[in-house]
Amino acid sequence: MITIKSKREIEYMREACKVVAILYDKLEKTIKPGMTTWELDQIAEKIMRENGAIPAEKGYSSGIKGVPPYPAATCISINDEVIHGVPSKKKYIKEGDIVSVDTVALKNGFNGDAARTFIVGKSSKESERLVNVTKQAFYEGIKYAKPGYRIGDISHAIGEYVKSQGYSVVKEFQGHGIGREMHEDPGIPNYGKAGKGPRIEPGMTLAVEPMVIQGKSNILELDDGWTIITEDGSMAAHYENTILITEKEPEILTLL
Ligand code: MF3
Ligand code: CO
Repeated sequence: MITIKSKREIEYMREACKVVAILYDKLEKTIKPGMTTWELDQIAEKIMRENGAIPAEKGYSSGIKGVPPYPAATCISINDEVIHGVPSKKKYIKEGDIVSVDTVALKNGFNGDAARTFIVGKSSKESERLVNVTKQAFYEGIKYAKPGYRIGDISHAIGEYVKSQGYSVVKEFQGHGIGREMHEDPGIPNYGKAGKGPRIEPGMTLAVEPMVIQGKSNILELDDGWTIITEDGSMAAHYENTILITEKEPEILTLL
């Protein structure tokens, strides 16, 4: 079921999303070579709590038997890790790494979800291009995030743009509706047919999140039950915002 948020619910969504926006503004200035992903996660959790939110990913269950609940406030995925990298005291961030951070803040019963990919220290032309294309894919997608279009129009725009740049999208994971639940209907794949899927209506809040791989789209899951890596070892990037559908252009709630 797709939930249409009331005026009051939209205000709560704005608040939760603002915490995530503040968090990334701070993390961007904080992330440095030599830090562990655990340290970065601790900082993210502190920023969330200082802003009246709790980390919704902590304790989140994938629903898969035998996989423990997610143990951290953020997912931190480095280089060929695509998504759901688990923060660790043993994982050091190095100069030139492509670090994707994905986090969800829960405030007043509503969730704000966003992801950013940072290039740490000196960047290469190729990693810059990957990160820029991933961010642009989000913007290509949300050109259709307004009344008169369907979810498939967003998916199609993202998929075609990424392909046109010589990269691949991940097929097994997708964007989603968001609100009281972290994952609500509709699912928003990063590829698909234009003109298909649910109609887009004002009051929907959606997390649009291209996951882009430099090489082939195939992925593998590590034994921890969470971390997703590229099969070919090529680099991956992730960019996500929670948006609000309005009568006109969508509002991006997880940007300052
Ligand atoms: N934030 C992710 C998303 O974009 C979900 C993370 S799964 C979790 O949908 F286990 F880390 F919570
Ligand atoms: Co999401």
